[in-house]
Amino acid sequence: MKELKIERIVNKSEADTRKLGLELAEKAEAGDVIALIGDLGTGKTALTRYIAEGLGIKDTISSPTFTIVKEYKSGRLPLYHFDVYRLGDGEELLDIGAEEYLYGDGICVIEWADIVADVLPEDAIAINIEYGENEGERIVNITR
Ligand SMILES: Nc1ncnc2c1ncn2[C@@H]1O[C@H](COP(=O)(O)OP(=O)(O)O)[C@@H](O)[C@H]1O
Ligand SMILES: [Mg+2]
Repeated sequence: MKELKIERIVNKSEADTRKLGLELAEKAEAGDVIALIGDLGTGKTALTRYIAEGLGIKDTISSPTFTIVKEYKSGRLPLYHFDVYRLGDGEELLDIGAEEYLYGDGICVIEWADIVADVLPEDAIAINIEYGENEGERIVNITR
């Protein structure tokens, strides 16, 4: 990903999360892996929706909890949206053939990525999201 800022952001509302999603989509390059880490309800799926919007994907994005991965190919780059909540570890991710996505032609966005961190590429972008003090506030830490 081009010129990704390593930073801590305080999102005051979902509009800020949308802004981040659109920015990530604009900078995204084939092969990028975005690892989303955060409790239930912190906005992992919401951020993925805004990344999809930024890529120009018109489909409705819903959490792939049962299928583990969903593919969206109508945007600037293919989006592979993972929700690995039901997996035990990274080995199980590789068992479902994830390598072709992780090192593929699109971008991967992975919810609950801490579970599979051991098999993600070295240069994956980690986005940690926590609840802030106020309603609608989220603390977002972006690292590599
Ligand atoms: N700043 C924010 N960023 C993202 N979502 C927010 C924010 N403030 C409130 N929300 C709400 O929090 C919820 C996040 O849900 P979801 O994206 O499904 O979380 P997760 O996938 O992490 O479980 C949504 O209902 C969304 O509207
Ligand atoms: Mg979710």
